[in-house]
Amino acid sequence: MILAAALSASAQPASVNFDPAAKVFRLDGGGTSYAFGVNAHGELQQLYWGGRLGAADTFPQAVPMPDWASFDSSYTNTPQEYAGWGAGLFVEPGLKVTWADGNRDLVLHYESHKLSANGVDVVLKDIKRPVYVTLHYAIDGETGILARSATIENRGTEAVTVEQAAAAAWTLPPASYTLNYLTGRWAGEWSLTQEALHPGARVIESRRGSTGHQANPWFAIQAGESSEDHGEVWFGALGWSGSWRITVEQDQLDEVKVTGGFNPFDFGYVLHPGQSLETPVFYGGHTAHGLGGASRLLHRFELAQILPRTAATAKQPLPKPRPVIYNSWEATEMNVNLAGQSALAEKAAALGIDRFVMDDGWFGQRKTDHAGLGDWYVNPEKFPNGLKPLIDKVHSLKMDFGLWVEPEMVNPDSDLYRKHPEWVLNFPGRPRNEQRTQLVLNLARPDVRAYVLGFLDKLLNENDIAFLKWDYNRNWSEPGWDQLPPTEQKKVYVEFTRNLYAILAELRHRHPNVEIESCSGGGGRVDLGILHYTDEVWPSDNTDPFDRLTQQDGFSYAYTPQVMMAWVTDSPHWLNHRATSLSYRMLSSMQGSLGIGANIGKWGDEEMATARRLIAAYHDVQPTIVQGDLFRLISPRDGSEFSATQTVSRDKGQSVVFAFVHSTQKGRLFPTLKLKGLDPAAQYALSAIEGKARTGTPAVASGAWWMNHGLDMDQEFRGDFQASAFRLDRK
Ligand code: GLA
Repeated sequence: MILAAALSASAQPASVNFDPAAKVFRLDGGGTSYAFGVNAHGELQQLYWGGRLGAADTFPQAVPMPDWASFDSSYTNTPQEYAGWGAGLFVEPGLKVTWADGNRDLVLHYESHKLSANGVDVVLKDIKRPVYVTLHYAIDGETGILARSATIENRGTEAVTVEQAAAAAWTLPPASYTLNYLTGRWAGEWSLTQEALHPGARVIESRRGSTGHQANPWFAIQAGESSEDHGEVWFGALGWSGSWRITVEQDQLDEVKVTGGFNPFDFGYVLHPGQSLETPVFYGGHTAHGLGGASRLLHRFELAQILPRTAATAKQPLPKPRPVIYNSWEATEMNVNLAGQSALAEKAAALGIDRFVMDDGWFGQRKTDHAGLGDWYVNPEKFPNGLKPLIDKVHSLKMDFGLWVEPEMVNPDSDLYRKHPEWVLNFPGRPRNEQRTQLVLNLARPDVRAYVLGFLDKLLNENDIAFLKWDYNRNWSEPGWDQLPPTEQKKVYVEFTRNLYAILAELRHRHPNVEIESCSGGGGRVDLGILHYTDEVWPSDNTDPFDRLTQQDGFSYAYTPQVMMAWVTDSPHWLNHRATSLSYRMLSSMQGSLGIGANIGKWGDEEMATARRLIAAYHDVQPTIVQGDLFRLISPRDGSEFSATQTVSRDKGQSVVFAFVHSTQKGRLFPTLKLKGLDPAAQYALSAIEGKARTGTPAVASGAWWMNHGLDMDQEFRGDFQASAFRLDRK
């Protein structure tokens, strides 16, 4: 399990130095330097975070900020790496505690440190009492992205309650900034929200017990005129799938602090003598190449440092591109059975699908969403001989098999609930919210954890399952844990998520080739915590191909297209009743990790042929799309008539371009696409995956040509919901 911030060695080494005379720590990686030091008061003070400095450059000892009249003390003005709430701190603290005797003053000073090849652990201690905080720092040599977390330890003889614990606080110098963050709702995740930073605090958070659709734990802060392609951007993402909070605060002296970690709302974690609390990891990076540069760094970092490997890819620098899947959910909903699924599997195989996934409905007494969750036996009416006949059928068609589960939930109408009503989150004697007629199992309980791990392990032992779609279809309400003393119950916010990670880690350990998707009614649990244990995510239940363009655009600021599952479903779409061509739907989904989720049982020869052709074309260029450098050429946001993306493989040998027309007006032609990221001196051959380039476009031209002259779409690329795609291959 990932507990403290730790990164594996990357191809480019990181550099970590401590200057004992000046008491300054400096970490360098990629194009980034980060420095902090111990000031004369003993506080750990941030000194620098930005573009990489000269190897011989040094910092003098950190100088604390002065008092600002009698209202703001040096303690609150000094940009501390992790300030305790005490001594007149008015800005967001790193840590806030209450001791058993009611004392609530905490002032953390430097105590010691330990360097490693790519990071440092710095120990802070309260000036009077034996509370120790170890700040973990690691920097990725390739991207310069830092991983930071804290371990809070009670070495005293009295209990101390942690009321607020951040993973890290990041400081940016006074300047004018634009904050970017991601917001949404069910079926409407991943809206990029942009706003100027002003004095005061902007809070992005989830109080829901899980990551949430409504806000995602990612931020990017642009300096001044920074744009998609140019200018400084500081960005970060929190690795935590429970309630979280990121506070972006422009303080009284105009410095900007970004503090993130456990959500302090309803939080309380008692540390008895000798106990410690590990915070989530907060990742942060810097680029001079705009929002595009920020997401390219994050994508590389996620692929190399965050995503898990299977036994087959354990030694590979990158995980393998995702199999192209078929999922039966939109075709059959819960009406699954051997005959229906087998028929779909045959058609899926004919399309060139790699993996067949059976969704909800196969277990317990599951006919609607009113029953069955918790009873993870195969429904004997739907599958009289278990799953084996279907799995054998899928294998005979040269696909592997995946299965939907929702392990943390229970329907009141289930054998599990009848046996263990005490297993759910609730406050005794209070009414309970039953969203989707289901309750949340208290995964923080050791017996629930053992049950969930046990049934999943059994399922994987008894069946040849390559993949689990792990769903989570509601948020917490009434989050009581009445088996614990009242003072301990709020631990649920930490222990639930820790146990989720522990189960995922143990399952992967016992079944090292099983792959897992994180789904939560779409994109309700996507973050860098869950992505340590899951290979992909389901970004949204909204599969409308036009809506997906803006959702995928938003998603791509924070997460790599590798994890972005994108199904082609039926037209007109159930959500917006919009009709689109199959080719448009295919190309929209081909921007991420492609899947088919339509009722292919009804597809005729023409649709089968189009999908088969485009799946084959996708397979050919998939590594470039999902693991290359992504350039958002034209954003689909804000009602744009057009949108386009381009990806370039790491070695610049291949590039893939997608172009979409929403609805043109007054005969407007598609803008010339000036491509990016190619080798200017190399020759690239252009070929169409779908659609046509303008007559006269060269078949082969230099990278310089494609980047300076650009690529023009055919004049007929107009109207409503049109899509084209091209590939360029180095000669
Ligand atoms: C959630 C998922 C869907 C589907 C249903 C099944 O909504 O996001 O893809 O699996 O559950 O009930």
